[in-house]
Amino acid sequence: MRKETESNSKRKHEHLHINLTKDVQFESVTTGLENFRFIHQALPEVDAGSIDLSASLFGKTLRAPLLLSPMTGGVKQAQRINRNLARAAQKLGIAMGVGSQRTAIENPGVADTFRVRNVAPDILLFANLGAVQLNYGYGIKECRRAVEMIEADALILHLNPLQEALQPEGQTDFSGLLRKIELICRRLPVPVVAKEVGWGISETVARNLVDIGVAGLDVAGAGGTSWGEVERHRARSDNHSRLAKNFASWGIPTVESLRMVRRAAPDITLIASGGLRTGIDVAKAVALGADAAGIAAPLLRAANISTESVLESVNEIIAVLRTTMFCIGAANLKELKDSPHLEKIK
Ligand SMILES: Cc1cc2nc3c(=O)[nH]c(=O)nc-3n(C[C@H](O)[C@H](O)[C@H](O)COP(=O)(O)O)c2cc1C
Repeated sequence: MRKETESNSKRKHEHLHINLTKDVQFESVTTGLENFRFIHQALPEVDAGSIDLSASLFGKTLRAPLLLSPMTGGVKQAQRINRNLARAAQKLGIAMGVGSQRTAIENPGVADTFRVRNVAPDILLFANLGAVQLNYGYGIKECRRAVEMIEADALILHLNPLQEALQPEGQTDFSGLLRKIELICRRLPVPVVAKEVGWGISETVARNLVDIGVAGLDVAGAGGTSWGEVERHRARSDNHSRLAKNFASWGIPTVESLRMVRRAAPDITLIASGGLRTGIDVAKAVALGADAAGIAAPLLRAANISTESVLESVNEIIAVLRTTMFCIGAANLKELKDSPHLEKIK
């Protein structure tokens, strides 16, 4: 177990370092958001000052439909990053997720690097574990522990088969997981959200997950951070590097995944993420059916600097979202969702 923990924390360091210093965005796959544009309304018939960005998610009200997506924890640097994200989320009234807590389940000594309630008492906060852990000894006890460890409102179980397959130390037994996720959904006292990590959720997978009782889905589609690229930077051998390169353009672009999931589950709470970078991207994602939008990579860099940097980045996203809604005459998120002013241009 101790050796496992050490290699976990080494991997965490490498992931952070690579994501902070290298360009690991998809090269050839885009989100698909560029294929849509809003039709400008010269007479929007709304007061920009009264546009309402609030969203209700898992029993909490957000002041804007934004999630600082799960990224990190387990090492000292991650503690600072999580706290900077959390302080900003608290100030802005938005949601946040911490990175996979497996390392803290195995070594409770690092649990503090995930804990942010003391700086963010009111936010919608997501705990995080890899679903595949349910095939490697984890069950309801570990899921409860992850939630209680950080006083979370909900648990994200991430689905990352390709990421595991591209890691030399990856855990690749994904057999029978659906039934195990179902048990967790039944027995955990908080909602369970299933999420990819950057290759998207298909219609079939969405349907299966909704059938077994997940409360929400986060598409984490292709077009933003590419774990294939991250693993290519970690590669210690040509074989490892070539394996990752073969999957450079793998994945369901964020827009396609959003549409697939909405077809499968018209009413599920749906988070869009994967390559969302601006307030216009967020507005498009909502108009395409998302209830909220998650952003990871750009905020990792900001959070590595300071809380103020995160605030600056997210405030810009919120200002652009508000201005976009003004220019298409959407007074609130429901009107944005139902907007007739989003057109496909390609
Ligand atoms: C450094 C880093 C670490 C991540 N770790 C996790 C994780 O532990 N659990 C998870 O569900 N997603 C994780 N993700 C995936 C993000 O939450 C997000 O779904 C993905 O990066 C796509 O968003 P982006 O294009 O805005 O980066 C991580 C992303 C980054 C950049």
